[in-house]
Amino acid sequence: PNNNVCSIVKGSKFRIPIPDHLQLVLNACNEDNPGKNADYIPELRDADSNKLGVAVSTVDGYLYTAGDVDIEFSIQSISKAFVYALAIEEHGLEYVLTRVGVEPSGEAFNELSLEQDTCRPLNPMINAGAITTHTLIGKKDTTYEERAEMVRKGLSKFAGRELTVDENVYDSEMKHAFRNLAIANMLRNYNVFDLDPKKVVEGYTRQCAVNVTAKDLAVMAAVLANSGVQPVTGERVVRPETVRQTLSVMMTCGMYDGAGDWVTQIGFPAKSGVAGGIIGALPGQVGIATFSPKLDKHGNSLRGVRICKRLSDDMGLHIM
Ligand code: DON
Repeated sequence: PNNNVCSIVKGSKFRIPIPDHLQLVLNACNEDNPGKNADYIPELRDADSNKLGVAVSTVDGYLYTAGDVDIEFSIQSISKAFVYALAIEEHGLEYVLTRVGVEPSGEAFNELSLEQDTCRPLNPMINAGAITTHTLIGKKDTTYEERAEMVRKGLSKFAGRELTVDENVYDSEMKHAFRNLAIANMLRNYNVFDLDPKKVVEGYTRQCAVNVTAKDLAVMAAVLANSGVQPVTGERVVRPETVRQTLSVMMTCGMYDGAGDWVTQIGFPAKSGVAGGIIGALPGQVGIATFSPKLDKHGNSLRGVRICKRLSDDMGLHIM
Protein backbone atom coordinates (compact mmCIF):
# COMPACT_ATOMS: atom_id res chain seq x y z
CA PRO A 1 0.00 0.00 0.00
CA ASN A 2 1.11 3.54 -0.70
CA ASN A 3 1.22 5.20 2.71
CA ASN A 4 1.40 8.59 1.10
CA VAL A 5 -2.15 8.87 -0.18
CA CYS A 6 -5.29 9.93 1.61
CA SER A 7 -6.94 6.70 0.73
CA ILE A 8 -5.02 4.98 3.54
CA VAL A 9 -7.93 6.42 5.49
CA LYS A 10 -10.92 4.19 5.04
CA GLY A 11 -13.63 5.93 3.05
CA SER A 12 -11.43 8.73 1.74
CA LYS A 13 -12.64 10.15 -1.57
CA PHE A 14 -9.19 11.49 -2.41
CA ARG A 15 -6.14 9.85 -3.85
CA ILE A 16 -3.82 12.83 -3.68
CA PRO A 17 -0.78 12.70 -1.37
CA ILE A 18 -1.65 13.53 2.22
CA PRO A 19 0.85 16.41 2.60
CA ASP A 20 -0.57 18.16 -0.48
CA HIS A 21 -4.07 17.56 0.73
CA LEU A 22 -3.27 18.97 4.19
CA GLN A 23 -1.78 22.13 2.65
CA LEU A 24 -4.85 22.51 0.44
CA VAL A 25 -7.17 22.17 3.43
CA LEU A 26 -5.07 24.60 5.44
CA ASN A 27 -5.28 27.21 2.66
CA ALA A 28 -9.02 26.71 2.28
CA CYS A 29 -9.58 27.22 6.02
CA ASN A 30 -7.36 30.30 6.20
CA GLU A 31 -9.41 32.77 4.15
CA ASP A 32 -10.24 34.67 7.31
CA ASN A 33 -9.40 34.26 10.98
CA PRO A 34 -12.45 34.96 13.14
CA GLY A 35 -12.92 34.27 16.85
CA LYS A 36 -10.63 35.44 19.62
CA ASN A 37 -7.75 34.19 21.73
CA ALA A 38 -8.60 32.97 25.24
CA ASP A 39 -8.63 36.23 27.19
CA TYR A 40 -8.67 35.03 30.80
CA ILE A 41 -5.03 33.86 30.63
CA PRO A 42 -2.84 36.84 29.63
CA GLU A 43 -0.13 34.65 28.06
CA LEU A 44 -2.72 33.12 25.74
CA ARG A 45 -4.47 36.41 25.04
CA ASP A 46 -1.15 37.78 23.74
CA ALA A 47 -0.21 34.72 21.66
CA ASP A 48 0.26 35.08 17.88
CA SER A 49 -3.19 34.33 16.49
CA ASN A 50 -2.00 33.94 12.90
CA LYS A 51 -0.39 30.57 13.57
CA LEU A 52 -2.07 27.67 11.83
CA GLY A 53 -1.04 24.05 11.58
CA VAL A 54 -2.34 20.55 11.02
CA ALA A 55 -0.69 17.19 11.64
CA VAL A 56 -1.87 13.65 11.02
CA SER A 57 -0.17 10.58 12.48
CA THR A 58 -1.06 7.10 11.29
CA VAL A 59 -1.23 4.30 13.85
CA ASP A 60 1.97 2.91 12.36
CA GLY A 61 3.83 6.13 13.01
CA TYR A 62 3.82 8.01 9.69
CA LEU A 63 3.48 11.73 10.31
CA TYR A 64 2.03 14.18 7.75
CA THR A 65 1.97 17.90 8.38
CA ALA A 66 1.26 21.35 6.96
CA GLY A 67 1.77 24.82 8.44
CA ASP A 68 2.95 25.69 11.95
CA VAL A 69 3.45 22.24 13.44
CA ASP A 70 6.71 22.80 15.37
CA ILE A 71 5.55 25.72 17.49
CA GLU A 72 5.06 24.90 21.15
CA PHE A 73 1.86 25.96 22.87
CA SER A 74 0.24 24.80 26.09
CA ILE A 75 -1.81 21.63 25.94
CA GLN A 76 -4.52 23.04 28.25
CA SER A 77 -7.75 21.01 28.29
CA ILE A 78 -6.46 18.43 25.83
CA SER A 79 -4.49 17.09 28.81
CA LYS A 80 -7.80 16.17 30.45
CA ALA A 81 -8.34 13.21 28.13
CA PHE A 82 -4.86 11.77 28.69
CA VAL A 83 -4.86 12.30 32.45
CA TYR A 84 -8.29 10.65 32.64
CA ALA A 85 -6.72 7.64 30.90
CA LEU A 86 -3.78 7.68 33.32
CA ALA A 87 -6.16 7.81 36.30
CA ILE A 88 -8.10 4.80 34.99
CA GLU A 89 -4.84 2.89 34.50
CA GLU A 90 -3.85 3.63 38.06
CA HIS A 91 -7.12 3.00 39.92
CA GLY A 92 -9.35 1.07 37.55
CA LEU A 93 -12.50 2.40 35.89
CA GLU A 94 -14.84 1.40 38.69
CA TYR A 95 -13.11 3.62 41.22
CA VAL A 96 -12.65 6.54 38.84
CA LEU A 97 -16.40 6.44 38.09
CA THR A 98 -17.16 6.94 41.79
CA ARG A 99 -15.29 10.27 41.58
CA VAL A 100 -16.19 11.62 38.11
CA GLY A 101 -19.20 10.84 35.90
CA VAL A 102 -19.51 10.45 32.12
CA GLU A 103 -22.51 12.59 31.25
CA PRO A 104 -22.26 15.64 28.97
CA SER A 105 -22.94 18.81 30.94
CA GLY A 106 -24.39 20.95 28.15
CA GLU A 107 -22.72 23.83 29.99
CA ALA A 108 -19.50 25.77 29.47
CA PHE A 109 -16.23 24.05 30.43
CA ASN A 110 -15.76 26.26 33.48
CA GLU A 111 -19.17 25.74 35.08
CA LEU A 112 -19.38 23.67 38.25
CA SER A 113 -21.67 21.03 36.65
CA LEU A 114 -21.99 18.57 39.53
CA GLU A 115 -24.38 15.62 39.45
CA GLN A 116 -27.36 16.35 41.73
CA ASP A 117 -27.39 13.33 44.03
CA THR A 118 -23.70 12.31 44.13
CA CYS A 119 -22.05 15.74 43.72
CA ARG A 120 -19.54 14.13 41.32
CA PRO A 121 -18.47 16.39 38.46
CA LEU A 122 -20.53 15.35 35.45
CA ASN A 123 -17.57 14.37 33.26
CA PRO A 124 -13.74 14.50 33.17
CA MET A 125 -13.52 16.91 30.22
CA ILE A 126 -14.87 19.97 32.04
CA ASN A 127 -12.69 21.83 34.55
CA ALA A 128 -14.49 20.43 37.64
CA GLY A 129 -14.01 16.88 36.37
CA ALA A 130 -10.41 17.42 35.31
CA ILE A 131 -9.42 19.06 38.59
CA THR A 132 -10.83 15.94 40.27
CA THR A 133 -9.08 13.56 37.85
CA HIS A 134 -5.79 15.34 38.59
CA THR A 135 -6.15 14.39 42.28
CA LEU A 136 -6.46 10.72 41.29
CA ILE A 137 -2.87 10.55 40.05
CA GLY A 138 -0.53 9.13 42.69
CA LYS A 139 -1.03 7.55 46.09
CA LYS A 140 -2.27 8.97 49.40
CA ASP A 141 1.21 10.16 50.38
CA THR A 142 2.13 11.61 46.96
CA THR A 143 3.01 15.31 47.35
CA TYR A 144 1.35 17.94 45.15
CA GLU A 145 4.66 18.54 43.37
CA GLU A 146 5.21 14.82 42.80
CA ARG A 147 1.68 14.52 41.40
CA ALA A 148 2.24 17.33 38.90
CA GLU A 149 5.52 15.69 37.88
CA MET A 150 3.82 12.29 37.45
CA VAL A 151 1.28 13.95 35.18
CA ARG A 152 4.01 15.62 33.10
CA LYS A 153 5.81 12.29 32.77
CA GLY A 154 2.58 10.51 31.85
CA LEU A 155 1.80 13.04 29.12
CA SER A 156 5.39 12.65 27.89
CA LYS A 157 4.87 8.90 27.43
CA PHE A 158 1.98 9.59 25.08
CA ALA A 159 4.13 12.09 23.16
CA GLY A 160 7.17 9.81 23.07
CA ARG A 161 9.42 12.65 24.20
CA GLU A 162 10.09 14.63 27.37
CA LEU A 163 7.52 17.46 27.55
CA THR A 164 8.16 20.57 29.64
CA VAL A 165 5.97 23.00 31.56
CA ASP A 166 5.65 26.57 30.25
CA GLU A 167 6.30 28.47 33.48
CA ASN A 168 5.04 31.76 32.01
CA VAL A 169 1.69 30.22 31.06
CA TYR A 170 1.52 28.57 34.48
CA ASP A 171 2.21 31.83 36.36
CA SER A 172 -0.11 33.77 34.10
CA GLU A 173 -3.02 31.38 34.65
CA MET A 174 -2.43 31.02 38.40
CA LYS A 175 -2.63 34.81 38.83
CA HIS A 176 -6.18 34.69 37.46
CA ALA A 177 -7.32 31.25 38.61
CA PHE A 178 -10.16 32.58 40.78
CA ARG A 179 -12.77 30.53 39.01
CA ASN A 180 -10.90 27.21 39.17
CA LEU A 181 -10.09 27.93 42.83
CA ALA A 182 -13.80 28.43 43.45
CA ILE A 183 -14.61 25.16 41.66
CA ALA A 184 -11.92 23.28 43.61
CA ASN A 185 -13.24 24.69 46.89
CA MET A 186 -16.75 23.52 46.03
CA LEU A 187 -15.42 20.06 45.17
CA ARG A 188 -13.58 19.97 48.49
CA ASN A 189 -16.77 21.08 50.24
CA TYR A 190 -18.65 18.11 48.77
CA ASN A 191 -15.77 15.76 49.68
CA VAL A 192 -15.19 14.84 46.05
CA PHE A 193 -11.54 14.92 47.20
CA ASP A 194 -9.95 15.69 50.55
CA LEU A 195 -6.84 17.57 49.43
CA ASP A 196 -5.97 21.28 49.67
CA PRO A 197 -7.99 22.97 46.88
CA LYS A 198 -5.33 25.63 46.19
CA LYS A 199 -2.55 23.05 45.87
CA VAL A 200 -4.76 20.92 43.62
CA VAL A 201 -5.44 23.88 41.31
CA GLU A 202 -1.70 24.58 41.16
CA GLY A 203 -1.06 21.00 40.05
CA TYR A 204 -3.91 21.01 37.56
CA THR A 205 -2.72 24.34 36.15
CA ARG A 206 0.79 22.93 35.68
CA GLN A 207 -0.82 20.02 33.83
CA CYS A 208 -2.56 22.49 31.51
CA ALA A 209 0.70 24.43 30.99
CA VAL A 210 2.61 21.47 29.53
CA ASN A 211 3.98 22.51 26.14
CA VAL A 212 3.27 20.53 22.99
CA THR A 213 3.44 21.03 19.24
CA ALA A 214 0.79 20.01 16.72
CA LYS A 215 3.14 17.15 15.79
CA ASP A 216 3.21 15.97 19.42
CA LEU A 217 -0.57 16.15 19.66
CA ALA A 218 -1.08 14.15 16.47
CA VAL A 219 1.16 11.40 17.82
CA MET A 220 -0.52 11.54 21.25
CA ALA A 221 -3.90 11.19 19.54
CA ALA A 222 -2.48 8.31 17.49
CA VAL A 223 -1.74 6.47 20.75
CA LEU A 224 -5.48 6.58 21.41
CA ALA A 225 -6.22 5.57 17.82
CA ASN A 226 -3.74 2.71 18.27
CA SER A 227 -5.49 1.18 21.34
CA GLY A 228 -2.92 2.64 23.73
CA VAL A 229 0.37 1.73 22.04
CA GLN A 230 2.70 4.63 21.15
CA PRO A 231 3.21 4.30 17.37
CA VAL A 232 6.82 5.50 17.41
CA THR A 233 8.29 4.08 20.65
CA GLY A 234 6.14 0.93 20.53
CA GLU A 235 5.48 1.30 24.26
CA ARG A 236 2.06 0.36 25.63
CA VAL A 237 1.02 3.52 27.48
CA VAL A 238 -2.52 2.50 28.48
CA ARG A 239 -4.75 -0.55 28.02
CA PRO A 240 -7.31 -0.88 25.19
CA GLU A 241 -10.24 -0.77 27.70
CA THR A 242 -8.90 2.52 29.04
CA VAL A 243 -8.68 3.94 25.53
CA ARG A 244 -12.25 2.87 24.80
CA GLN A 245 -13.47 4.68 27.90
CA THR A 246 -11.44 7.80 27.13
CA LEU A 247 -12.49 8.02 23.47
CA SER A 248 -16.13 7.45 24.42
CA VAL A 249 -16.10 10.36 26.84
CA MET A 250 -14.25 12.50 24.29
CA MET A 251 -16.99 11.69 21.78
CA THR A 252 -19.81 12.95 24.01
CA CYS A 253 -18.05 15.62 26.11
CA GLY A 254 -14.74 16.57 24.46
CA MET A 255 -16.03 19.66 22.68
CA TYR A 256 -18.09 20.92 25.62
CA ASP A 257 -21.41 22.54 24.78
CA GLY A 258 -20.38 22.32 21.12
CA ALA A 259 -20.26 18.51 21.35
CA GLY A 260 -23.56 17.92 19.54
CA ASP A 261 -22.58 20.03 16.53
CA TRP A 262 -19.17 18.39 16.51
CA VAL A 263 -20.41 14.81 16.67
CA THR A 264 -23.08 15.29 14.04
CA GLN A 265 -20.94 17.28 11.60
CA ILE A 266 -17.43 15.94 12.12
CA GLY A 267 -18.10 12.66 13.86
CA PHE A 268 -14.96 11.41 15.58
CA PRO A 269 -13.82 11.62 19.22
CA ALA A 270 -11.99 14.87 19.90
CA LYS A 271 -10.71 17.23 22.58
CA SER A 272 -9.92 20.92 22.45
CA GLY A 273 -7.76 23.27 24.52
CA VAL A 274 -7.96 27.05 25.02
CA ALA A 275 -4.45 27.61 23.66
CA GLY A 276 -5.88 26.62 20.26
CA GLY A 277 -5.14 22.91 19.96
CA ILE A 278 -7.63 20.22 18.96
CA ILE A 279 -7.01 16.48 18.77
CA GLY A 280 -9.12 13.85 17.09
CA ALA A 281 -8.66 10.09 17.01
CA LEU A 282 -9.94 7.58 14.46
CA PRO A 283 -9.61 4.13 16.06
CA GLY A 284 -7.31 1.89 14.03
CA GLN A 285 -6.45 4.68 11.60
CA VAL A 286 -5.07 8.11 12.53
CA GLY A 287 -4.51 10.73 15.20
CA ILE A 288 -5.21 14.28 14.04
CA ALA A 289 -4.12 17.59 15.55
CA THR A 290 -4.79 21.18 14.60
CA PHE A 291 -3.42 24.43 16.02
CA SER A 292 -4.97 27.87 15.66
CA PRO A 293 -5.31 30.14 18.73
CA LYS A 294 -8.58 31.99 18.05
CA LEU A 295 -11.58 30.33 19.69
CA ASP A 296 -15.32 30.12 19.04
CA LYS A 297 -17.97 30.79 21.67
CA HIS A 298 -17.54 27.31 23.19
CA GLY A 299 -13.79 27.76 23.67
CA ASN A 300 -12.90 25.51 20.73
CA SER A 301 -10.34 26.62 18.11
CA LEU A 302 -12.41 28.12 15.29
CA ARG A 303 -10.14 27.41 12.31
CA GLY A 304 -9.24 24.10 13.99
CA VAL A 305 -12.88 23.04 13.87
CA ARG A 306 -13.02 24.15 10.22
CA ILE A 307 -9.98 22.07 9.32
CA CYS A 308 -11.40 19.02 11.08
CA LYS A 309 -14.71 19.46 9.28
CA ARG A 310 -12.94 19.67 5.94
CA LEU A 311 -10.76 16.63 6.70
CA SER A 312 -13.79 14.70 7.90
CA ASP A 313 -15.69 15.51 4.68
CA ASP A 314 -12.78 14.88 2.32
CA MET A 315 -11.46 11.76 3.96
CA GLY A 316 -14.75 10.25 5.10
CA LEU A 317 -13.75 10.36 8.76
CA HIS A 318 -17.25 10.57 10.26
CA ILE A 319 -17.63 7.23 12.01
CA MET A 320 -21.30 6.98 11.04
O1 DON B 1 -8.61 25.50 33.49
C1 DON B 1 -8.67 26.22 32.50
O2 DON B 1 -9.57 27.04 32.35
C2 DON B 1 -7.61 26.05 31.44
N1 DON B 1 -6.36 25.73 32.03
C3 DON B 1 -7.99 24.98 30.46
C4 DON B 1 -9.35 25.20 29.83
C5 DON B 1 -9.46 24.71 28.45
O3 DON B 1 -8.50 24.44 27.77
C6 DON B 1 -10.82 24.65 27.87
N2 DON B 1 -10.76 24.28 26.48
N3 DON B 1 -11.13 24.56 25.47
